[in-house]
Amino acid sequence: MDLINKFLNLVAPPFTLFSLCLFLPPFLCYKFLLSVFNSIFSEDVSGKVVIITGASSGIGEHLAYEYARRGACLALCARREKSLEEVADTAREIGSPDVITIRADVSKVDDCRSLVEETMNHFGRLDHLVNNAGISSVAPFEDTVNITDFKQIMDINFWGSVYTTRFAVPHLRYTKGKIAVLSSSASWLTAPRMSFYNAQVSTIPVQSAWSCAKAIVNSVCRGDTYLVVPSWFRTTYWMKVLCPELLEFWYRVFYMGRPEEPSYEAPSQKVSDYTGAQNVLYPSSDQSADIKTE
Ligand SMILES: NC(=O)c1ccc[n+]([C@@H]2O[C@H](COP(=O)([O-])OP(=O)(O)OC[C@H]3O[C@@H](n4cnc5c(N)ncnc54)[C@H](OP(=O)(O)O)[C@@H]3O)[C@@H](O)[C@H]2O)c1
Repeated sequence: MDLINKFLNLVAPPFTLFSLCLFLPPFLCYKFLLSVFNSIFSEDVSGKVVIITGASSGIGEHLAYEYARRGACLALCARREKSLEEVADTAREIGSPDVITIRADVSKVDDCRSLVEETMNHFGRLDHLVNNAGISSVAPFEDTVNITDFKQIMDINFWGSVYTTRFAVPHLRYTKGKIAVLSSSASWLTAPRMSFYNAQVSTIPVQSAWSCAKAIVNSVCRGDTYLVVPSWFRTTYWMKVLCPELLEFWYRVFYMGRPEEPSYEAPSQKVSDYTGAQNVLYPSSDQSADIKTE
């Protein structure tokens, strides 16, 4: 095995580079033509049935409005019923022919099962599943008193999507439907103080919720496999691949500060405190696993 790995260590890099040089230009042309074609023949979701998890606020709320504008029927899920009802009323006003709300906690497998069952009982079909429900946490790993607090992030952000997808897949297969999963650049750009958020599917809010929602629904209807919003954030991926050490150095200096200093002395924390940026970057709504008040 060692010999095989030694051989591959030598051969794989030049071979991959050569293959990329050969296949990348025609592949990019093909991707471009496909995206033009898919933009012209984008899916019409009018009358189709869409489940959106985490639709009571934020991006999920605006996803509901974007689908409603296109005439889709909606099954909206979250834990706060009153907020969900308000979103549902607005979605109906905007143009959705039929909207149901289902109170569900996606970290509970039975809730996810009944979310899909109730949708099927009401509409009889399912065309899109949007796994949007998610929370994040911002805290240095070693300052966390109760390590099990992080479990909730994985339960909601990771398992929530897995459970719902599992129950929805048979129905989506039938309609040749689509699954959209909201993820974060934190999956590749593992940011300090966001330890377990980094570890789940894939935060820096850099675009408004409504424009994210619009871009997401456009992309789903075009049939894209991936979407990065805003698209310039893709450049961070190149940096991660090409110079990970440089990124880590920047993170250490800017986000963590000196090892002997507490984390609130880190330069990023000071910039955030002095400018009031934390209220924009990390709204309290996005930080807690607790059910938000109505
Ligand atoms: N904001 C960003 O900059 C950003 C960036 C990248 C990715 N994302 C991802 O985009 C998604 C939406 O983010 P957001 O900024 O719109 O967050 P948000 O405003 O806090 O909304 C989160 C939604 O998820 C719901 N939710 C939370 N826990 C739930 C649970 N256990 N079961 C069911 N629903 C639950 C919340 O409703 P209830 O409290 O009523 O349950 C709420 O409707 C998240 O997955 C997040 O990771 C966000």
